[in-house]
Amino acid sequence: MSDPRPIGVFDSGVGGLTVLSEIRDRLPYEHIVYFGDTARVPYGVRDLAEVRWFAFEIIRYLIGLDVKLVVIACNTATAAALKAAQRSFDVPIVGVIEPGARAAVEETRNRHIGVLATEGTVASGAYRRAVHNLDAGVDIYEQAAPSFVPLIERGVVDGPELEKVARGYLAPLKEEGVDAVILGCTHYPLISAPINRILGPEVRLISSAGQTALEVGRILSRRGYLRRPKHAEDEGLSSYICSADPEEFAALGSRFLEEEIEAATPAVF
Ligand code: DGL
Repeated sequence: MSDPRPIGVFDSGVGGLTVLSEIRDRLPYEHIVYFGDTARVPYGVRDLAEVRWFAFEIIRYLIGLDVKLVVIACNTATAAALKAAQRSFDVPIVGVIEPGARAAVEETRNRHIGVLATEGTVASGAYRRAVHNLDAGVDIYEQAAPSFVPLIERGVVDGPELEKVARGYLAPLKEEGVDAVILGCTHYPLISAPINRILGPEVRLISSAGQTALEVGRILSRRGYLRRPKHAEDEGLSSYICSADPEEFAALGSRFLEEEIEAATPAVF
C-alpha cells in the first residue's frame, strides 16, 4: 500500500525548513507541503493564545490540502498549540519540543542543559517540563533570544552584528557550565556556526530536527501511511506556501535549503 498524500510542515517563517530538510533526508519519497507564516513572523514575542490561533488557522489550511500528518516545525507554536491541536484534529500532529528534549537528555553527561529559545517558548515552561519528564534530576538553564529570529529572517546568519547579540545570550549559559544546549527554535540551526564558535567544542548543540523526522517516519510506518513509489527515482516533491511576499520567501528559503525553491505560493485563508 502506498499513501501519496503530502506531509504538512509549518513555521512562522523559514526556520522550519531545517526540519523539512531532515524529513526529506530520511523520507525521500514523501511529498511535503511547507507553510511559512512570513506575514506574522516572529511568533516568539507574541502572546501564546494568539500563536495558538495562528497555528489552528494553518493546520486547518493544511488539512484542506489533504495532508496525512502535520509537523509543527516551530517551538513557539508547539508550546502554544500542540496539545490543543492534537485534541481538536483527527490528523496526527507532531511537535518539536519533546524530540529536542529527548536528544538533550540522552547526550548530556553532566546533566546541566541549556535551552536557547524565543521568549514565548521560555515563558511556556515547555522545555523544562519535557526534560524533567525524561530525567527529573537534570538542571536546566533557559535563555530567551528574541533578536535572533528577526536577524535570521533578514538573512543575517553570521558576522559582527549577530556575533555581538549571540555573545550576550550565551554568556549566562557558559557561566552555568552546561554541556548541551538545545537550539529551542527551528531558526537557530541556521546560526549554529557562530553559536558553536562562542560556546566552544565541549558544548554539544542539540537540534530537534533529526529526532522529529525520525518520529514522523515511525508514525507513518506504523499507520501504513508511507508513500511507496514503484520506481526508486520517483522521489517526493516539496511545495512552498507563505503568507507574505513569495519571491522573498523563495530567495531566502533557497539560500537556507541550499537548493533552488523555484516558486512559493501566496496563502489565501
Ligand atoms: N522557528 C520558530 C520557533 O521554533 C520561531 C519563532 C518566531 O517566529 O519567533 O520558535
